[in-house]
Amino acid sequence: MLFPLLSLVPLASATLLPFTPQHIFSNPPSHDEESALRIPTAYESAVLGRRVLALTPLGTLSTIFPSPHDGAEELEQRPSGLAGMPIGMMDYIADCEDSGNPTILAINIATSFRNAAAGSNISLSLQWTPPYPPSKRISLSSSEKEAVPYSAANLPRFSLLGYLEKVEDADTEGLKKCFVDTHPDSKYWLPGNRIHTSEWARFVVQDVYWVGGFGDRAYIGWIDAVDWKNVTKKEWEDVRLPGEKKGWKEWAADSLREWEL
Ligand SMILES: *[C@@H]1O[C@H](CO)[C@@H](O)[C@H](O)[C@H]1NC(C)=O
Ligand SMILES: *[C@@H]1O[C@H](CO)[C@@H](O)[C@H](O)[C@H]1NC(C)=O
Repeated sequence: MLFPLLSLVPLASATLLPFTPQHIFSNPPSHDEESALRIPTAYESAVLGRRVLALTPLGTLSTIFPSPHDGAEELEQRPSGLAGMPIGMMDYIADCEDSGNPTILAINIATSFRNAAAGSNISLSLQWTPPYPPSKRISLSSSEKEAVPYSAANLPRFSLLGYLEKVEDADTEGLKKCFVDTHPDSKYWLPGNRIHTSEWARFVVQDVYWVGGFGDRAYIGWIDAVDWKNVTKKEWEDVRLPGEKKGWKEWAADSLREWEL
């Protein structure tokens, strides 16, 4: 009795595909014969990531508090003992240089930029947020009342790791227009304003960690920074992310093309 039951298991899981994710937070082992879905390559994922970067105006900057220096803790009135502690804070970004290195308007007194100035490395985390809810969604219950209108675990997110570099004043006119187009309120804290000292900064990407969605259909892993920077505007303009248009299906397998089918 036991043997026939067991032999049904692979069949059952195969017929559920692609409706039940088989590998959620990691990719299946390579040459997995059972995988019915094509997983995008790291380069294709870089193209998707560059599109996310181009379309996403907010990110989370993570930095690490420095060792105590020159009474900085008292000056900043922060609790003692935070050295080495990471802190993530939302900030405005804009893809103004179209080089894979986002533009940031760094306010000197803000925690992320103080930590960076004190020598912290920095990461920038982004997530893709579809403008429309899916018409067919991933859901284990049939409730329509769920707080999140889509399965965020199956959507792209990534972290850029690197450092900040000041953009020289001679190169900032175009950045200013681009950044204010993306963030109109940022005109109040542009470099030279009377309230806060600020400067244009380039987030120089050294490494990219990508989670494209469920691991049975999306790439999860590192993307080469050379590939990341080599993606052309034409490439990222030619792909689509899930939920860019109304009527998308969350279970679409090929993240490059089939979300809208
Ligand atoms: C920044 O990261 C690099 C690795 O990329 C590491 O060698 C260096 O020590 C880090 N700097 C600090 C201040 O932690
Ligand atoms: C960059 O992309 C182009 C095609 O767009 C390709 O021919 C070239 O080999 C790539 N360079 C690197 C370093 O990957």
